[in-house]
Amino acid sequence: MNGKPVLILGIESSCDDTAAAVLKDTNILANVVAGQQVHKNFGGVVPELASRAHQQNIIPVVDEALKRAGVKKEELDAVAFTQGPGLLGSLLVGGSFAKAFSLALNIPLIPVNHMQGHVLAHFIGKTDVPKFPFLCLTVSGGHTQIVLVKDHLEMEVIGQTNDDAAGEAFDKAAKILGLPYPGGPLVDKYAKEGDPHRFRFPEAKIPGYDFSFSGLKTAFMYFIKEHSSDSDFTQHNLNDICASLQHTIVETLMNKLKLAAGELNITEVAIAGGVSANSGLRNALLAEQEKSGWKVFIPPFEYCTDNAAMIAITGYYKFLKGETAAQETTSKARLYF
Ligand code: KG4
Ligand code: ZN
Repeated sequence: MNGKPVLILGIESSCDDTAAAVLKDTNILANVVAGQQVHKNFGGVVPELASRAHQQNIIPVVDEALKRAGVKKEELDAVAFTQGPGLLGSLLVGGSFAKAFSLALNIPLIPVNHMQGHVLAHFIGKTDVPKFPFLCLTVSGGHTQIVLVKDHLEMEVIGQTNDDAAGEAFDKAAKILGLPYPGGPLVDKYAKEGDPHRFRFPEAKIPGYDFSFSGLKTAFMYFIKEHSSDSDFTQHNLNDICASLQHTIVETLMNKLKLAAGELNITEVAIAGGVSANSGLRNALLAEQEKSGWKVFIPPFEYCTDNAAMIAITGYYKFLKGETAAQETTSKARLYF
């Protein structure tokens, strides 16, 4: 490296957000996210509609990111994109765009693992960053993982869900309550006014650092059915139901995180992914910091849910190591690290 700052364009299109960001070394210059309204009436993301919306959004979103950053595309050092995991059609839009961009500008192409991106969001524009090795609980709509982070690009998944993800548990329960997709943020909102100990839901007993949330979803569905003779039950008890549900999910996550931290003797603990925006989880982590002397790392809200800044920062670390890819590289719905 010649001492000149590195300018990276990051592109994220793994699910239903089309995002682009520009990073100068680890500092953010622009972070643009376009959500997709087309899924609103379907209670979830419709993959085919998502890819079409990405096609419409990708050029304006990249243009806007470059404009906000005050960077000309010819000044970029590399383009990083989400290679996977995610919806294949959606990934292909971002991937094809990034490949064409890299070819046209003759700059390196850097494929990024979305889950690694969530973890490295902790390094965006920060000087107080987690020290290696640290643990990161990555909780999103599609994943629930405890990651042992040994270095920027050296990570090991030591625990994960056997079925539903934590975000999925929030969203499916919210759907049973008649709340619109994605219901996680709404459960969080109602939970703030409710009593977390009013109702009890089961916590799955899974060995090691793994999780299971499908039993909770079923138990929750039966709980609501049991009270269906009272047509106002849900409406009258919404805050307490949401608070109790959130309490159960957060307890489950925290118990496994505490087990892993204790057994591995690690005190630097981070959270990442969409569910790390949850106020109950954030508070539980802060409480553990007080109690156990953990040093906790909680991402700013804009870097919790899907964004391209996290893709750009991962691209930055890969760029420094020369980890670039050829045009033949392919998008992957399933991708591990
Ligand atoms: O990381 P993300 O934006 O997308 C995926 O990669 O899946 O995570 C989205 C998930 C959704 O399930 C959404 O309901 C959940 O994160 N989520 C929340 C909150 N904000 C987003 N869940 C609970 N409380 C929140 N405040
Ligand atoms: Zn995500």
